[in-house]
Amino acid sequence: MKAVLLGAGAIGSVIASLLGRREEVEHVLVADRSLDAAKALATTHDGGRLEAARIDASDVDGMAKAFRGYDLVLNVVLPRFNLKIMDACLKAGVHYMDAATDLALAREKPGDAVKETPYAQQLRYDDGFRAAGLTALLGMGADPGLSNIFARLGADRLDTVEEVLVRDGDSGQVQGHEFVALWSPDTLIEEVLMPALAFRDGRFVRLGSLEGEEVFDFPPPVGPLTVYNVDHEETETLPLFIGKGILRADFKLAIPKDLATALSVFQRFGLHAGTMMEVEVKGSGERVRIAPRDILTALLPNPKDLAAKVRGAASIAVVVRGTKGGKRDGWMFWFVLDHQETFRKFGFNATAYPVGAPMAMSALMIGKGEIARRGAFPPEVLDPMPFFRRLPEFGILVREKRLP
Ligand SMILES: NC(=O)c1ccc[n+]([C@@H]2O[C@H](COP(=O)([O-])OP(=O)(O)OC[C@H]3O[C@@H](n4cnc5c(N)ncnc54)[C@H](OP(=O)(O)O)[C@@H]3O)[C@@H](O)[C@H]2O)c1
Repeated sequence: MKAVLLGAGAIGSVIASLLGRREEVEHVLVADRSLDAAKALATTHDGGRLEAARIDASDVDGMAKAFRGYDLVLNVVLPRFNLKIMDACLKAGVHYMDAATDLALAREKPGDAVKETPYAQQLRYDDGFRAAGLTALLGMGADPGLSNIFARLGADRLDTVEEVLVRDGDSGQVQGHEFVALWSPDTLIEEVLMPALAFRDGRFVRLGSLEGEEVFDFPPPVGPLTVYNVDHEETETLPLFIGKGILRADFKLAIPKDLATALSVFQRFGLHAGTMMEVEVKGSGERVRIAPRDILTALLPNPKDLAAKVRGAASIAVVVRGTKGGKRDGWMFWFVLDHQETFRKFGFNATAYPVGAPMAMSALMIGKGEIARRGAFPPEVLDPMPFFRRLPEFGILVREKRLP
């Protein structure tokens, strides 16, 4: 298999390390808008298979030219480039995979009716990819990705599905830091403060940000953490693809209570804004152009520098409730990864590793024809069993329990 890895960032690094050492991978073109970043990654993990290139994800024709002759593109740049990369894949005749959708495209305010979710734009590519005999696997990673597969496994064991709840918790801490973001602080602030989508009584609704506070008991050693509704891909796709009469779906992320309070205050002051504005800094007599969020993120440590120092564990748990044989029934599926142990084994902490590993695994499955469905679709439309069989090979052990 010959693959293009587009995006030499946190998740791209995991994928390069895994694909770079697989016999069945002939060649990986590691590409980024920065050739230096691509080269640094390609040389770190090179076993004779990786080559670096400069590719700009906003240039469809340039990408199409670069993609020709490859089998698959793994898109791990930012989701705002998804449609352009999908266009380029269609032009070049290559399979496509990404890890996120552009949720920032949602325009409704809390309480507004939701006519169409951002995911719909990518699902419109279904016919095109199908006609071209190509696969576009949308939202593969930890969550979305494994969470969708867990949801499908639960749904397959039930006759009807009432609710699917996805919960993401991390007890990770770094000594000497009051607060750290374990992935892009910019994305964290944007994601947490965006009005969240939820599926209630068979309808999509837009909630306010940081609603739905509750304590979720994550499997040990993570334990109970306060979680809040956060906008996420699974809430968009599970109601459309799980079927079986699903009535409720939502995604909640564990956020320390004091951080949630701080973020709400930042939002009230406009300090969360990612758009450039002109402000006069007191006493300087000069007006400067700045995105207020950049000040917050500049004051936080870079997640890349923290990878080896995080202590604690990360977990993603999915609860699926419904009925079986006319009786109430339900399942919970989860994985837990310890940050230190994951770093020792794989060189990445438990935040980035379980995102990149399922992507690398799915790339191999596409290469081998184990994922043979064509069109553009989320992971829950696929048979979950082949994923479960392969995950232990990548150090991810899925646990399950029946719910009372
Ligand atoms: N499914 C999941 O579980 C999950 C979890 C985490 C993340 N994700 C998704 O995974 C993706 C990658 O995340 P990450 O943490 O690896 O991000 P990241 O560390 O910021 O890496 C993204 C890389 O893409 C580069 N880039 C930005 N614009 C580009 C362009 N126009 N052309 C080419 N390269 C460009 C960035 O360069 P600069 O550094 O110069 O900007 C950076 O090297 C994101 O879509 C994220 O939402 C999914």
